Amino acid sequence: MPVTASGLGHQFPEQPFLFRGLDLDLAEGRTYAVIGPSGSGKSTLLGILAGWITPTEGTVERPAGGDVGWVFQNPHGVYQRTALDHVSLPFIARGIRRGDAEQHALVLLEDFGLAHRAHAVFSKLSGGEAQRLLLARAVAAEPALLLVDEPTAQLDAATSMSVNASLGAMAGRGTIVVVATHDPDTRDACTDHISLADYQ
Ligand SMILES: Nc1ncnc2c1ncn2[C@@H]1O[C@H](COP(=O)(O)OP(=O)(O)O)[C@@H](O)[C@H]1O
Ligand SMILES: [Mg+2]
Repeated sequence: MPVTASGLGHQFPEQPFLFRGLDLDLAEGRTYAVIGPSGSGKSTLLGILAGWITPTEGTVERPAGGDVGWVFQNPHGVYQRTALDHVSLPFIARGIRRGDAEQHALVLLEDFGLAHRAHAVFSKLSGGEAQRLLLARAVAAEPALLLVDEPTAQLDAATSMSVNASLGAMAGRGTIVVVATHDPDTRDACTDHISLADYQ
């Protein structure tokens, strides 16, 4: 089910509008890059889409009962658990048996370039591997809407490239993915673009 927004605008007290007149029609299986410089309101827009922030103007319609997933810029995992454990857990939580859950998880790890790290514990993963793992785990949870905030902000160029490459693995699934970024390569890895500069 799509997520739609009409006439969205937001300003924090005593500050100018960050954006105004933003209409969105977000479709499953597509990956949207929210772009704009630091301070332009990207994280605020994600918060509005999640329902955490009430917009100053306009409305958002989300699928009833659909859950929202988040991936933040600092990857947080469970240090002593393996990559495979991290991605299996959302399947196990939905009642899938461990053996089958691990099969599903291995397919996702492959998609995110982590098959060879399946049995590595989280604390041994590089920054890029950890970020890709959290993207894979978020996809495994099959949220209706997945919000990703600056997935490459803390990473060097080579590591960012590996994360950007794996963003492609998120499109084409049943989830709406919205990625806030000021990284042009991250933007290019998404199927659609929402430029906040167009809504001043
Ligand atoms: N809760 C808040 N109260 C007041 N101002 C805020 C709040 N959250 C963010 N801002 C301000 O709103 C602007 C946009 O912030 P943000 O959405 O985080 O931008 P971005 O994610 O594009 O860097 C910034 O100037 C920030 O300081
Ligand atoms: Mg931000």
